[in-house]
Amino acid sequence: MQDIVFKDLKFAYPDEPGKMVLGGVDYEANKGDFVCLLGQSGCGKSTLLRLVAGLEKSNPEELLVNGKPVTAPSLERVMIFQDYGLFPWMTAGENIMIALKQKYKDWDKSQRAKVAYEWMNNLGLDEDLFDKLPANLSGGQRQRFAVARGFALDSPVMLMDEPFGALDAVTKALLQDTVVDLWQKGGDNRKTIFFVTHSVEEALILATDIVVLGQAPSKIIYTHHFTPETKPTRDRLFTDPEVVNLREKLTKIIDDEIQEKARRVKAEKEQAAAAGETSGKKKH
Ligand SMILES: Nc1ncnc2c1ncn2[C@@H]1O[C@H](COP(=O)(O)OP(=O)(O)O)[C@@H](O)[C@H]1O
Ligand SMILES: [Mg+2]
Repeated sequence: MQDIVFKDLKFAYPDEPGKMVLGGVDYEANKGDFVCLLGQSGCGKSTLLRLVAGLEKSNPEELLVNGKPVTAPSLERVMIFQDYGLFPWMTAGENIMIALKQKYKDWDKSQRAKVAYEWMNNLGLDEDLFDKLPANLSGGQRQRFAVARGFALDSPVMLMDEPFGALDAVTKALLQDTVVDLWQKGGDNRKTIFFVTHSVEEALILATDIVVLGQAPSKIIYTHHFTPETKPTRDRLFTDPEVVNLREKLTKIIDDEIQEKARRVKAEKEQAAAAGETSGKKKH
């Protein structure tokens, strides 16, 4: 089992202990779920992924993976970032090789190369790109390498933080379909994926479960589960009335939160200004 359980998960960064980022997140992901996290910028989506990755420290009873607290980063929970995260001084192929070396310590170089080429092939990358430095690849190719590296590690949990946010629409659509395809091919052993996106459409195309976080200190304000029958496909995104309704509903939920936050910030500024005026007057 590869359950990920959030039990009233609260979190503030150690350098700003007074500013709660997560205000009590309750959620349970089952093995093989493809969870897309939506929410306005700054609501704590990346923070939530970093906690699952073990890059930030959570309270041991509030976040459990397979029933155990997350105490440190692990190759069982691989993170893929928007900015690719490839080492710039190594060739793109070596970036996959070194990750494999970390995980499969007894593999020889030819075994690692075989798997690296297999995953390059799965991501539609030509073999001759193996020896290129990341700087000499397009953004789409770099992100394919990052995804290839993530899948090559074959970890049961994959954490993807807006991985396709910087790509053009065509490359993005191709990569979305590839990731869904690779995930589905895992069958009963498929990975549990947490995927952060700011795009409602992307969430609808990818997710088995959509989770919307409210403004910080955030809690979950909406969830939606798809069955294999109700799962939207790309061609139904703008034509199927149910999918269109859900898309509008999700967009409205997020927009309302953004406006509510803007109102709150404005009110706080006005309050602070009024307080400043009062204290200023007192001085004179
Ligand atoms: N390393 C950090 N130290 C302190 N505060 C941080 C750090 N990283 C993010 N934050 C703050 O935590 C909040 C949530 O950020 P983040 O999780 O990146 O949001 P999102 O990914 O939803 O845009 C923001 O207010 C951000 O400024
Ligand atoms: Mg983020």
